[in-house]
Amino acid sequence: DVPTSYAEAQGNGGETHQTTGDPATTMTSQQGIPVSDGQNSLRAGPRGPTLLEDFQLREKIFHFDHERIPERVVHARGTGAHGVFELTDSLAEFTTADVLSKVGQQTETFVRFSTVAGRAGSFDLARDVRGFAVKLYTAQGNWDLVGNNIPVFFIQDSIKFPDLVHAVKEEPDRGFPQAQSAHDNFWDFASLMPEAWHMVMWQMSDRTIPRSYRTIEGFGVHSFRLINAEGKSTFVKFHWKPRQGLQSVVWNEAVKVNGADPDFHRRDLWEAIDSGDFPQWDLGVQLFDQATADALPFDHLDATKLIPEEDVPVRLIGTLTLNRNVDNFFAETEQVAFCTANVPPGIDFSDDPLLHGRNFSYLDTQLKRLGGPNFTHIPVNAPRCPVMHFQQDGHMAMINPKGRANYEPNSWGPEGGPRENPELGFKSFTADVESPKARLRSETFADHYSQARMFYLSQQPIEQKHLGDALVFELSKVTRVDIRARAVSHLRNIDDNLAATVANGLGMALPDPAKAAKPTLDLPT
Ligand code: HEM
Repeated sequence: DVPTSYAEAQGNGGETHQTTGDPATTMTSQQGIPVSDGQNSLRAGPRGPTLLEDFQLREKIFHFDHERIPERVVHARGTGAHGVFELTDSLAEFTTADVLSKVGQQTETFVRFSTVAGRAGSFDLARDVRGFAVKLYTAQGNWDLVGNNIPVFFIQDSIKFPDLVHAVKEEPDRGFPQAQSAHDNFWDFASLMPEAWHMVMWQMSDRTIPRSYRTIEGFGVHSFRLINAEGKSTFVKFHWKPRQGLQSVVWNEAVKVNGADPDFHRRDLWEAIDSGDFPQWDLGVQLFDQATADALPFDHLDATKLIPEEDVPVRLIGTLTLNRNVDNFFAETEQVAFCTANVPPGIDFSDDPLLHGRNFSYLDTQLKRLGGPNFTHIPVNAPRCPVMHFQQDGHMAMINPKGRANYEPNSWGPEGGPRENPELGFKSFTADVESPKARLRSETFADHYSQARMFYLSQQPIEQKHLGDALVFELSKVTRVDIRARAVSHLRNIDDNLAATVANGLGMALPDPAKAAKPTLDLPT
């Protein structure tokens, strides 16, 4: 009379409350074997050992043990949504990219917003840059516009990225702080990196504590190229402008929101979309030719500089609407893979050294994060246009090319698979390159303060006060006074009143200005 299940042992005749009895929802194993009892393992008697024979137990535990994949090395915490991009103004005279040519055309998109420094389990309202990554599933393949909510970056050359990220993330010995810039290592690094100070000014401004993901701007940061049917190149910078307006909170609010609801931004986006209040952004472009680029007082290939909108106006060409939440966070938001190198024919890269490093880095990290070379088979990453090539095999290959031939050239005629298309295929812009091979940057890359000052002076008095308060607060957390002094020495090259306010707030004497390269912009001091 040994009971065969827990329910039976409870004396209710074998019925468990977990069993629906509806055959349409019968639970199965991964192999499709129907499950009769998923709550009790197979044991040698009610008090005996658990049996190795129980394949259902083993499968359930094995699978659970492998649920985690590495979180993103940066931008680990994020939230994603589906949407649509509609073109309202054609750029056909500048580009052969289909997605930017046909007015009224709608292109399916997936967007992931993120913080940068914190781990996946950190909180939303950290003082941090926000990622704004957009995947457009165009008729000519996926176009990923992987931007941030700040138009410039901390570093000019990708070789500095590992150092930047190590300095921003948790300190190696103690493992904290994990989502704040307020610590010795970040300020040690920034104070030794004059090129970071334009972005540091943005980081200390209200921009880095947005009210909502719905109220941030987005920037592609780098110059890209548009290439038209004649092969002519036009430089372009991409902007996303929120129709909800640009809005931030103040630090006091951010701290309270983080305490009350660490998921505030993620919940806010989810609820807005869920209730039909779809957020929208206009896509803007700054278009300029080589002559305009040459006339700028700085190098547009320097990602720590922006092109003022007064000099090259932003032309609005389309609208992004986020209209559908994900069905499954892991399948979509966690497994989506963006890469700056994903561009359709008609869009190409500039020679920005930061961009070139990114083009390598994203694919490289995704090969590890998503377990091999076939992550484009995952639905959120799969192009919506036909995909035809001779690449095959590898872990988790879902779709291998059909047919006899798996190489080119081949002479199998129509059965021989896809062929190159010189007319419609992607062609890199033909540019002259002749210069000594050297670890060099162009001269104006050394002007680190002109645009930092321009940004500070563009702020309203109340915004300037917030920025000064943020610097005092953050630097007051730095334990070494020499690091504080080195940080303030950069502010002396940006704005002397700001430097004095911060030194005063920190109760320290005003240090000498940092040794500075000649400013290129003629701005009031
Ligand atoms: C992730 C933006 C610079 C390497 C991301 C994401 C964004 C972003 C938005 C998150 C993508 C997502 O939601 O999945 C930017 C911007 C940069 C920049 C705007 C400068 C203008 C760099 C550089 C490197 C780099 C210089 C390396 C050389 C990475 C890596 C990831 C990442 C490895 C994780 C990707 C993944 O695991 O899928 N970046 N980034 N980023 N970024 Fe960047």
